[in-house]
Amino acid sequence: MAVVAPSMLGADFGRLRELAELVAPHSGYLHMDVMDGHFVPNLTMGPDTVAALRGVAPLDVHLMVTDPLDFVEAFADAGADIITIHAEANNAGAAIHAIHARGLRAGVAIRPSTPLSALDPWLEAAELLLPMSVEPGYCGQVFDEGTYDRIRALRKAAPDALIEVDGGVTRENATALREAGADILVSGSAIFGADDPVAATRAIAGLE
Ligand code: DX5
Ligand code: ZN
Repeated sequence: MAVVAPSMLGADFGRLRELAELVAPHSGYLHMDVMDGHFVPNLTMGPDTVAALRGVAPLDVHLMVTDPLDFVEAFADAGADIITIHAEANNAGAAIHAIHARGLRAGVAIRPSTPLSALDPWLEAAELLLPMSVEPGYCGQVFDEGTYDRIRALRKAAPDALIEVDGGVTRENATALREAGADILVSGSAIFGADDPVAATRAIAGLE
């Protein structure tokens, strides 16, 4: 069954813990977007922000950074359960190795413009595969419709991996994404921009 991972980047940071505790009972993970201002233009959160939500729900840390190997230890210490790096980043293989050495699950993400074949080297090593459905960097972008085919292809190529979808996930496309084979649905603005974040989380999860 698919689960939702609310993207905390979409939350009001002044109420980060309160909003995390609100949606956590209806979520499989909390998704934490880390950006370095280099791999993507934006700057978001660091290990202290991740550590602030430790224990609320399992933490799914998405590193949109040029040199993920430099940061694996810090986010493992902060309480990450899954650390996802980008195939386009430097030393992806070494970063995955470092994540596993800490006993954590490793994910590999690709931008929408990166060919799916960039995930081929990691199909067996990674526990999670993330074909992004928006250009990484910001919440609130429009979902790339090409993602459905990428999820279906990955579902066949890596039947045992967790397949995550991230970017532009809403109540409207969640059912089709679950049917295409996604296991973890990340959603920021459709949850934290909603009048009722709990109802939005449950709807995206297919719980109501
Ligand atoms: C984008 C981030 C996403 C983003 C999702 O770079 O990786 O996790 O916060 O936000 P929405 O659901 O608003 O597209
Ligand atoms: Zn993300």
